[in-house]
Amino acid sequence: MTDSNIVWHPYQVTSHSRASQKGQVPVLLWFTGLSGSGKSTIANAVECHLFELGCHSYLLDGDNVRHGLCNDLGFSDQDRVENIRRVGEVGKLMVDAGLIVLSAFISPFRSDRQLVRGLFPTNQFIEVFIDTPLSVCEARDPKKLYQKARQGLISNFTGIDSDYETPSNPDIVVRTEGKSVDDCVAQVLDVLRTQGVIPTAT
Ligand code: ADX
Repeated sequence: MTDSNIVWHPYQVTSHSRASQKGQVPVLLWFTGLSGSGKSTIANAVECHLFELGCHSYLLDGDNVRHGLCNDLGFSDQDRVENIRRVGEVGKLMVDAGLIVLSAFISPFRSDRQLVRGLFPTNQFIEVFIDTPLSVCEARDPKKLYQKARQGLISNFTGIDSDYETPSNPDIVVRTEGKSVDDCVAQVLDVLRTQGVIPTAT
C-alpha cells in the first residue's frame, strides 16, 4: 500500500519518448505454464528473433530472477504471489523504459496474472499460455524436479501438490505437444505482427 505522503514525481522524458527513440512498440509478453512446459525455450527463441530484427528487449526468467531479486522467496502460495507481484512491477518499469519484455514464470494463479495485466493499458500486456499437459511436462522433466517431487523430496511442486490455474482468457494459447519450437514461435510472432510490434514482412 502506498503511503499518502508519497507523491508521484513526473519527469520530462516520458515513456512515449523512450519508446519512439527506440523506434518500437513496447509490450510485456507474459509466458505462463507448468514447469517444463516450454516457456523459457519459446521465450528465448522469440527474443532471438526480436534481437535479429534490431528490437530492444529483455527476458525475465523465473529461475534466474529467483537467483537475485526474488532469492528470499520460496514456493508457498504466498511467496509465489509476491514473486509475481515483483516481476509484474519490474516488467512495468522495463516497458516504461521502452523495452519489449518477455517473462517466463509459472505464475500459477489467475488473480496474480490478472493483477499484472491491470498494470498495463490494453494491448501492452500479452498473456501467452504455454499449454503443455502435465503428463508431457513430467515425461520431459528437464531438471528432474518432477521426479524429486514424486519422491517427496520437493514440496509444493506445481501440478503435483500445488495448483496451476489454467488461464481463462489468454491472448495466445500455444499447444506445444507434437509441435516444433519454430511452429510455436511463429504463432507468437504472428500476434506481434498483428499488434504492430514487429513489421508484417518478417
Ligand atoms: S512461480 O510459481 O513463482 O511463478 P517461477 O516461475 O518463479 O515460479 O519458478 C519456477 C521454477 O522454479 C521451475 O521452473 C523450477 O525449475 C523451479 N522450482 C523449484 N521448486 C519448485 C516448486 N516447488 N514448484 C515449481 N517450480 C519449482
